[in-house]
Amino acid sequence: MEKTVIEQKGGLKGEVTVPGDKSISHRAVIIGSLAKGKTRIIEPSRGDDNLRTLNAFRMMGIEVDEPKVDQLIINGRGLYGLTEPEDVIDAGNSGTTVRLLTGLLTGQRFFSVITGDRYLRKRPMKRVVEPLSSMGAKIWGRENGNFAPLVINGTRLNPIDYISPIASAQVKSAILLAGLYADGVTKITEPSLSRDHTERMLRFFGANLKRDDNSVSIAGGSNLEGRKIEIPGDISSAAFFIVAALVIPNSEVLLKRVGVNPSRTGILEVLKKMGANIQLLNEYETWGEPVADILVKTSRLKGTKIEGELIPKTIDELPVLSVAASVAEGDTVIKDAKELRVKETDRIKAVASELKKFGAEVEEFDDGMRISGKDELKGCDCQSFGDHRIAMSLIIAGLMASGKTVVEDTSCIGTSFPEFKDKLFSLIQ
Ligand code: S3P
Repeated sequence: MEKTVIEQKGGLKGEVTVPGDKSISHRAVIIGSLAKGKTRIIEPSRGDDNLRTLNAFRMMGIEVDEPKVDQLIINGRGLYGLTEPEDVIDAGNSGTTVRLLTGLLTGQRFFSVITGDRYLRKRPMKRVVEPLSSMGAKIWGRENGNFAPLVINGTRLNPIDYISPIASAQVKSAILLAGLYADGVTKITEPSLSRDHTERMLRFFGANLKRDDNSVSIAGGSNLEGRKIEIPGDISSAAFFIVAALVIPNSEVLLKRVGVNPSRTGILEVLKKMGANIQLLNEYETWGEPVADILVKTSRLKGTKIEGELIPKTIDELPVLSVAASVAEGDTVIKDAKELRVKETDRIKAVASELKKFGAEVEEFDDGMRISGKDELKGCDCQSFGDHRIAMSLIIAGLMASGKTVVEDTSCIGTSFPEFKDKLFSLIQ
């Protein structure tokens, strides 16, 4: 198993670009495939999760051209242009692939099976299977449809008005994609706003979609037209560099062209509240998604509270925010974040157990944790549990800590950010 040894230390200086946003890249391939005509995707993520989505559409008859290394052209075939995949679709580690595709597959005129790796097969699918079933979808899976492999017999769908108990963009998007195939208007309301890339992109492609606070509705049968889509850098990948530059003395890092959609920038809000010196420069908007350069300088951080509506806006950044909290002055309390327990691994358990190995003080709650900041972390041997964001967070902790750190099982980083280590280590002075 690949491991990463961190011994080299020093301030981080320079400019970095991070890979294209993972969530937006999935959606560009999915929606581009359902649109009529060509969709040109500029700078998509090439992480394994995104390749899984791309491969699934290739299996369903979509032709993909790669005219340049940083571009994909999806030859969309319209809402009913997909063909039956001859084999099982393998979503690998990607929750977004399995959940969004489940929504989409329920409305097709064919049969399909979708599964994933040993981690994904343990993650809950009932959250999409239940509302989709109430639309008339025919889905089977282990434990009453809660675990992949999922078997889907495409059928005609009825619209629903669904009040979701959780703020989840994957649930919302699965229902919106199924809603494209329903006879009428499908509506979903979430308790607080989760990332809204699906809504923004569907609208850009011409879907008949309406938004009202935390509700969104879509008319079945909307015609989608191919578009050119620039993918902004992924703020969830930028997060590791932001935290590293803040906590490692003598650092100054400029992250170029990062997506700063307000449903994703909770990390910036939280860090600014903690006293971070972060500036947004060169702000602009591309097809409805805001983008900016982010300039980060070493700062003295203090503890804070992260809860309520901030949770869906920081959900993927909570592990690396916990690393920042472990050296901030005072306590940081994370609450209302039970969702962390059903991510690529149980991220509350993983963060608590691994940060303690660095000498951090962490108290675990059912829905979060309290982290009491220390002056210094000490290098240690720790493990990722096969979770890319835990692996990258621990590498940042290793850079901050004194002495040597070994992070076990770091090949999972390729899920979202294959060039992470090279980019990070090249910034060390
Ligand atoms: C994602 C939504 C979030 C997030 C995940 C990507 C998406 O999951 O954690 O990494 O692309 O829709 P949930 O919808 O389960 O909160």
